[in-house]
Amino acid sequence: MSNKTVYILGIESSCDDTSASVICNGKVLSNVVANQEVHAKYGGVVPELASRAHQQNIVPVVQQAIEQAGITKHDLNAIAFTRGPGLMGSLLVGTSFAKSLALGLNIPLIDVNHMQAHILAHFIEEEGSKIPPFPFVCLTISGGHTQIVKITNHFEMEILGETIDDAVGEAFDKSAKILGLPYPGGPLIDKYAQLGNPKAFKFTKPKVGDLEFSFSGLKTGILYFIQKNTKENPDFIKENLHDVCASIQHTIIEILMDKLKNTVKQTGIKHIAIAGGVSANSEIRKRLTTAQKHWGWTTYIPKFEYTTDNAAMIAIAGYLKYLNNDYSDISVTAQARLKVTE
Ligand code: KG4
Ligand code: ZN
Repeated sequence: MSNKTVYILGIESSCDDTSASVICNGKVLSNVVANQEVHAKYGGVVPELASRAHQQNIVPVVQQAIEQAGITKHDLNAIAFTRGPGLMGSLLVGTSFAKSLALGLNIPLIDVNHMQAHILAHFIEEEGSKIPPFPFVCLTISGGHTQIVKITNHFEMEILGETIDDAVGEAFDKSAKILGLPYPGGPLIDKYAQLGNPKAFKFTKPKVGDLEFSFSGLKTGILYFIQKNTKENPDFIKENLHDVCASIQHTIIEILMDKLKNTVKQTGIKHIAIAGGVSANSEIRKRLTTAQKHWGWTTYIPKFEYTTDNAAMIAIAGYLKYLNNDYSDISVTAQARLKVTE
């Protein structure tokens, strides 16, 4: 097996990005992502429109990924795809496409858990990349999930703590919506926060279990704060946008860092990774770099393009399963709900 060249095609279609990637023995040859602009004007992802856009994008995106990799579809050893969790209509497009292609090429089909894939993106081999040793802890922060996961082996994971209400990405996006910013607001809050004072305004942090998260109270707190201030000054948001964004972001990142500190205290594990869309955030990336210097943690920060949804993470997870001969039956079905441990 070790000398064999293995090409895996990964397909991701769980939410609003259609993506395809080719990986060769753990190295990324291509990673094509088609974002769907159609949702911005609705202030969130519209599931029906997402599946329609996947349907339009999937063939050209896969073709481009294969072409950019410099191979043909006949070189592929297996097709990996996202089985879930995600939007059912979106998942069905990728699942059906992957099945048909695997059948047509007569090669193995490999189903991948999207949440595991966010974490397994750390196993992509790249110049200068650092691969975490087992066991390590990963803080997965995305638009749909916020969890602390202990990873003892590629496919042996345990949830140590998670959110009891909103995901952290939702906290970013909903705060942005309150400020009148378009969807998804997370990257915009990050951008404006870099120009503001993170200590300008204070928001209350939630009181939950040591490894639990809660963001719905913070969202309500931000809403009341904005309502009160715009009543007194209708231009409040405009005049204070940078400081408000910086303060919101700082509060959210403080919450995440507190939980990571609790995790290290409880588990004694100092190998700490982050994954998911919110791990693109510049403040969390900075804070983890400092944690490495100050607290002796070894931190693993994914390359920017492997933070938000992408098919390279599906392909690497597929490759790791391929090495275990862990293939799927053609009757496998998409699952809208799927835990990271399933
Ligand atoms: O992992 P992802 O692409 O999709 C899900 O599986 O949910 O995560 C998307 C989330 C959105 O909530 C988006 O606002 C957030 O990641 N996000 C950010 C940043 N970039 C993306 N949040 C804060 N700062 C960023 N730079
Ligand atoms: Zn995701």
